[in-house]
Amino acid sequence: MNSKYQFYGTFMFLLALILTSCQSTGVNKTGSEYMPDMAHSVAYEANTYGYYYHNRWGTEDDLHKMVQPRKPIGGTIARGMAGMAHEGRGIAYTANGSVPYYYGNSEEERTRATAEVINNPFPISKGSLEKGKALYNIQCAICHGEKADGAGYLVRDDGGKYPVQPAILTSDDFIASSNGRYYHAIMYGKNLMGGYSDKLSYEERWYVIQYIRSLQAASKKLEYSEKANNFNTTDTPYSVIAAKLASSPKGDVAVVATDSIVVDHTHDAKSHH
Ligand code: HEC
Repeated sequence: MNSKYQFYGTFMFLLALILTSCQSTGVNKTGSEYMPDMAHSVAYEANTYGYYYHNRWGTEDDLHKMVQPRKPIGGTIARGMAGMAHEGRGIAYTANGSVPYYYGNSEEERTRATAEVINNPFPISKGSLEKGKALYNIQCAICHGEKADGAGYLVRDDGGKYPVQPAILTSDDFIASSNGRYYHAIMYGKNLMGGYSDKLSYEERWYVIQYIRSLQAASKKLEYSEKANNFNTTDTPYSVIAAKLASSPKGDVAVVATDSIVVDHTHDAKSHH
């Protein structure tokens, strides 16, 4: 064979090898790209790191910082985090039961919650008391007793296997305590009692507290129901809200503000009848 052709042949082979090796893809290498912008976003995406040297977001470090999750704007609440549905306000969603609780797990924070969390955000209704009763009997009564007298079967039967006396919720001390003391106990528990924040949703916690209040009222022969409440001033019977709704002009959305939570009770009006 002609040595001239042999030389060209070798040369072309090497050239092809060099050119293709630059373009070949690897685990962390895209190879050479035809119209690179089609593969690389010119927008930067939240929570996704996709640095590309042709984009102009600054350095790799800059992009790293820009795409980190950020804090929400002050005073805003994420959808679903309001504890209850706000139908009739333009945005309808299903509450996910997860509402921020701004108190830590300590005795100082228990005291602070007891002083600051006062009103029950849900009206006392037949439905809420029924749900509260079912949940209380499942989650709490085994220790605190079906009458909230501190004599649950774990404590009472079998010579009292449970090692400590659960709080006697019908005692005067607990009757006088604010709703915050109960809510905090449900969130974090206390000493030998564990927390129930993962077992009861926001709404359910308040229903359980209502049911405990109804047991306390019964022990004092007072009324705590959807019709009337002469037991405390922090929880509102449903009838009071229904009366307000009835007297407001047709088509109006009645809004009752309790603590920092704004509650639209038109939803309850529908579901509890
Ligand atoms: C396994 C038993 C047990 C269960 C179940 C239980 N508790 Fe308790 N609870 C206790 C004990 C024990 C204490 C007393 C803790 C202490 O003071 O050391 C207590 C204390 C409390 C207190 C008083 C906290 C304070 O501020 O002193 C409240 C309120 C309370 N429980 C509510 C509940 C509710 C509501 C439920 C159901 C969601 C519940 N508990 C389920 C055992 C239990």
